Amino acid sequence: MLKERYHIVTVVGARPQFIKAAALSRAIACNDRLHEVIVHSGQHYDHNLSGSFFQELEIPAPKYNLGIGSASHNQQMATFIAAFDEILTIENPDLVIVYGDTNTTSAAAIATAKRNIPLAHVEAGLREWNKKIPEEVNKLLTDAVTDIFFCPTQTAVNNLAKVGTVNNVHLTGDISLDLLHSSSATYATKSALQEKYGLEGDYIFMTCHRDRNTDIKENLDSILRAVADLEYQVILPLHPRTANAIDTYGYQSLIGDNIIITEPLGFWTTQSLLKYASLAITDSGGIIKEAYFHRVPTVIIDQQTEWIEAVDEGWATVVGPDYEQIKKAVDSTAIPDIHTNALGDGKCGERIVSTLLSYLDQIA
Ligand code: UD1
Repeated sequence: MLKERYHIVTVVGARPQFIKAAALSRAIACNDRLHEVIVHSGQHYDHNLSGSFFQELEIPAPKYNLGIGSASHNQQMATFIAAFDEILTIENPDLVIVYGDTNTTSAAAIATAKRNIPLAHVEAGLREWNKKIPEEVNKLLTDAVTDIFFCPTQTAVNNLAKVGTVNNVHLTGDISLDLLHSSSATYATKSALQEKYGLEGDYIFMTCHRDRNTDIKENLDSILRAVADLEYQVILPLHPRTANAIDTYGYQSLIGDNIIITEPLGFWTTQSLLKYASLAITDSGGIIKEAYFHRVPTVIIDQQTEWIEAVDEGWATVVGPDYEQIKKAVDSTAIPDIHTNALGDGKCGERIVSTLLSYLDQIA
């Protein structure tokens, strides 16, 4: 006898996860046989990194916010594991969904596996093959205990196969791109953005927040100097981590006159600025995917990326935090001829929901 309705706990904690949960929660809400409760770890707590996304993307309010806040990685994870364990007792879910590769993701995965509760990982299988990257450790820990894998790309499916993981592996496309494909997309006009941010012509949209670019002083120095020497205006919404680093190192003077700094921006403002940009400079996986969607060439100020498809088609170039390479890549970037929509067609949410239901019916 199949269960009439399954009780699912979704765990989020950091900005990219709110975006992914927004897309999947909409698909889950359309299905009567799934009931979802959202748990927020509290890893991101500033309004413009957290609450604003819940409002703007109309994500159901979290039933719990465990308030783990900022701390060392082990401290964040330990606090969350202990607190989330209690939620698992109260909610007793049929399945837990985690997203991506943050400390929230892997801590939730460990707690769920220890309770023998089925675990679904959205954005499974991505690898950068470098355990020095904190997110890579989170990817490895999470996939080691995942029961059902939702992979955004064929590369991710292949990565899992390389280590013998082939059961319950599903190629779905990238969930965050569902929002961009949807009819609810609400872009600002180019002229409104120009007026609001003082943009005069062609401009670059930039983000920078990875620990290796903020915590290694020389890297931040090279990045800021390179960007200050570009012939473009550059709009740079600043993650608090990067803002702290600039203050700590006294790097305010490295911020060129061509750079327009803003607070972290909402989802649709970010997408609008990206859509009309000539180029993106970023170390964010989310921006790499979104720029690919908008067909905006991207210079990646990181040593590597998991979004191989964007690199292979020529949309993204990996240069690292290197003054000369950043300048060279910006000067030589062109619009590639190929665009295969390799990262998602907007139907990822539907696929995940129907696959989840079949899986739950099968293990019931
Ligand atoms: C985390 C994720 C990263 C993701 C990013 C999205 C990990 C290991 N990293 O990085 O994969 O791309 O979120 O933004 O989980 N801070 C605030 N306010 C906040 C949150 C953080 O000021 O609401 C500051 C604090 O100084 C904190 C620092 O940012 O120490 C870093 O925050 P943390 O959550 O540890 O990592 P992120 O860099 O945001």
